[in-house]
Amino acid sequence: MQRIESYLEENRDRFVRELCEYLRFPSVSAQPQHRSDLSRCAEWLVRHCRQIGLDTKLCATAGNPIVIARTPRAASATKPHYLVYGHYDVQPAEPFELWKSPPFEPRVEGHSLFARGATDNKGQHFAHLKAIEAYLSTGTDLPCDLTFVVEGEEEVGSQQLAPFLKEHQADLACKGVVISDTGLVSPKHPTLSYGLRGICALEITLDGPSRDLHSGIFGGSVDNPAMALCQLLARLRDKNGRVAIPDFYNDVAPLTAYERKQMARQPFNEAAYRKFLGVPKLFGERSFTPIEQRSARPTLEINGLTSGYQGDGTKTIIPSWARAKITMRLVPNQTPAKALRLITRHLKQLCPPTVRMKIEGGHGGEPYMISPEGEQVQAALRALKRAFGYEPVLMREGGSIPIVNDFKRILKADSLLLGLALPDDNAHSPNEKFDLEVFAKGMLMGAYLWQELGNKTNRSSNK
Ligand code: BES
Ligand code: MN
Repeated sequence: MQRIESYLEENRDRFVRELCEYLRFPSVSAQPQHRSDLSRCAEWLVRHCRQIGLDTKLCATAGNPIVIARTPRAASATKPHYLVYGHYDVQPAEPFELWKSPPFEPRVEGHSLFARGATDNKGQHFAHLKAIEAYLSTGTDLPCDLTFVVEGEEEVGSQQLAPFLKEHQADLACKGVVISDTGLVSPKHPTLSYGLRGICALEITLDGPSRDLHSGIFGGSVDNPAMALCQLLARLRDKNGRVAIPDFYNDVAPLTAYERKQMARQPFNEAAYRKFLGVPKLFGERSFTPIEQRSARPTLEINGLTSGYQGDGTKTIIPSWARAKITMRLVPNQTPAKALRLITRHLKQLCPPTVRMKIEGGHGGEPYMISPEGEQVQAALRALKRAFGYEPVLMREGGSIPIVNDFKRILKADSLLLGLALPDDNAHSPNEKFDLEVFAKGMLMGAYLWQELGNKTNRSSNK
């Protein structure tokens, strides 16, 4: 381990330079104009994995390619096999004007590396790659066989990955999946997340008149789709954020006393949180703490709202249409299919006859939860403690990584969620960053993890 630790320390500056190269690709999966940037980014990653010494393939799919990189194997596999999952696609960088420096021109300031994708997720899986580089370059025996699976469609729902897992089920059979793509409470609270919320995305469009109309000539005699949409949306949630869709809460698993106690152990300062978010007052469902509200309770949010004239000055029209992008976050034992059914039924009941409504379901993902007491979780907690030097915390995450359920269903493997994203890393926001101290600790955590997972007690069965 000493040699690995020194290797990671000595090469830190080069690792940061390499990560900057990786971050220069505008690999925005939501925007069709970036299709070729995604391919180029994946090709860069393939070359990089090969340089590290991994047996690497670029796998074409109907969408963006998947990168598969395997550690060198002995002829007869005797080591436990794990997958390391990550995604090279990133969220759109808009609004550009709020970035202090261009999102795809990485910039180091203090110990922060600013760029879109720095924390979500290029920096995080790069830390795992560098841990493996350290093993291979120092000739240290790696106690596990690993396969990196890095996809390019996580931010748009991972459509291609599940069929890929099915097709390569035999090669990808494993004892578990390691994912660093969630939050880190603080460097003094290294974090293992044992749950994720699910998600159900949809778009609601209301069509009114066949064209924008003069609001003076026609207004008063015809409904306004923008207004009708606002009235509909206003009935989806009560004033404290409790979702107002009938039957929505039927399947929600209540929080256990044990979980509430664990959540209360996380450091939390309401005034600091409010200030950090820039809101005049916090908001949320009654009788739950903010930590519970944002990780263990379901929500409904408007993510985007479009209608009418958005330019300078006034334009007196009745818009022809209005559209809202909505996502619901789900908790055990809700499912995206049922959530979509319930909201559709509710909206149909509420929709006035003066407009035509269209509802399109988007991507979905089931909520996820594992037992915090399992053997692999304990091994990961030891690696976290050793790397960060502090007692780890266990938590449930509010975000979603839908593919974890496919790993479970198709490969029968649980995911260990060892996040490196700090609360102020601005994932999905302007000025996203990755903390370079956390990067260093993350590489160490990666290195220790394979020792902890590869030790004898975890070798009983070999998949
Ligand atoms: N890395 C995030 C998920 C995440 C972030 C989980 C922080 C927990 C804590 C991931 O890249 C992401 O943003 N996923 C999307 C899901 C999706 C289907 C678009 C999300 O949660 O919005
Ligand atoms: Mn992510």
